[in-house]
Amino acid sequence: MSQNNWQELEQKLFLRTVNRVPLTLVRGRGSLVWDEQGREYLDFVGGWAVNSLGHCPPVVVEALEKQAKTLIQASNQFYTIPQIELAQLLVENSCLDRIFFCNSGAEANEGAVKLARRYGKLRLNGAYEVITTYSSFHGRTLAMTAATGQSKFHEPYMPLPDGFVNVEYNDVEALKQATSEQTCAVMLEPIQGEGGVNIPGNDYLKKVQNWCREKGILFILDEIQTGVGRTGTLFAYEQYHVEPDIMTLAKGLGGGVPIGALLAKEGVSLFSPGEHGSTFGGNPLVCAAAHAALKYIIDNDIPGKVKQIGNYFMSRLESLKQQFDFITEVRGRGLLIALEFDQEIAERLILACLDRGLLVNKVKPNTLRFMPPLIITEREVDKAIGILETTLMSLRA
Ligand SMILES: Cc1ncc(COP(=O)(O)O)c(C=O)c1O
Repeated sequence: MSQNNWQELEQKLFLRTVNRVPLTLVRGRGSLVWDEQGREYLDFVGGWAVNSLGHCPPVVVEALEKQAKTLIQASNQFYTIPQIELAQLLVENSCLDRIFFCNSGAEANEGAVKLARRYGKLRLNGAYEVITTYSSFHGRTLAMTAATGQSKFHEPYMPLPDGFVNVEYNDVEALKQATSEQTCAVMLEPIQGEGGVNIPGNDYLKKVQNWCREKGILFILDEIQTGVGRTGTLFAYEQYHVEPDIMTLAKGLGGGVPIGALLAKEGVSLFSPGEHGSTFGGNPLVCAAAHAALKYIIDNDIPGKVKQIGNYFMSRLESLKQQFDFITEVRGRGLLIALEFDQEIAERLILACLDRGLLVNKVKPNTLRFMPPLIITEREVDKAIGILETTLMSLRA
């Protein structure tokens, strides 16, 4: 079937939830993907910050092959070894003590909010409200739509579940004012990803943590986009010298396979059997893959390499900014980077880069976002910069 047929079929068969880029991907390896015609693209979208080790990383493929021949799904009625091994690796390498596995980021955050509500019920006289921030993104379930502080996501689905208060990001005073007897937790992204790669002041998270400790409420970090090496440390909280009571992970954790995780400190781990659960969560197949990916990331100091290559990439983007006066800002940490323009040209740029063999993401009408695999090389960054430069020149012409 030809490329056009697939895209026509998609138009006919799917609920209209996404405007896809006109490209049908059939194969990937490392930082590269190929379409049906065999055309090669350098992938700086990375499955939306999922393909931490690139496409089809050998360690993940090997783990999947082995596990698929051994045990794929068993239910959480029983003990299975891959999920326990993955839990151990995560606990040993984070400040959290206990884990619940699920299948996506939204689910991990749902679990985090349910756990915070248990805490509120048992320890805070029934407090149930969670404070989140404007421009945040926490997922697409109804409760996470309410948690997400962006009205464009709220409007189609009003009324939304109760219990979320949105305040300005990077503003501790706003958060203090929103805190009441009903507050059980604050939930934040260490760096807002979908909101535009918004980086808070260096002391923001510390101040929020101190406020939470003072009030006895929970400090939840959504590290679904920032976690597992993306920002240059295994978890972004390390760079801000804080320790969340609850942390959520997904995206890069599985090295490409769908998995989510909710991690909590011992004193907060208040679920009783039957209060939360998941059929597929923590199944042996994905846990074996995630364990292989995470172990590779830790053993090979991928976060350290991300820091270096991220700095290099940012410096090359800064040079582009010198060259093109319509670039207004380069911002990011590690390999979560945004390039902002003074005009709404991101869509045009995506298509123009696509023509030249580079895949990039639009995070706002005037902002591109880069989330390449954590294993990209300087040569690949140079190639991407070359394509961006030619594309930007063509826009100026
Ligand atoms: C910070 C953050 N939280 C939660 C989510 C939702 O994750 P998922 O799409 O896996 O449900 C995302 C997805 O972009 C995210 O970036």
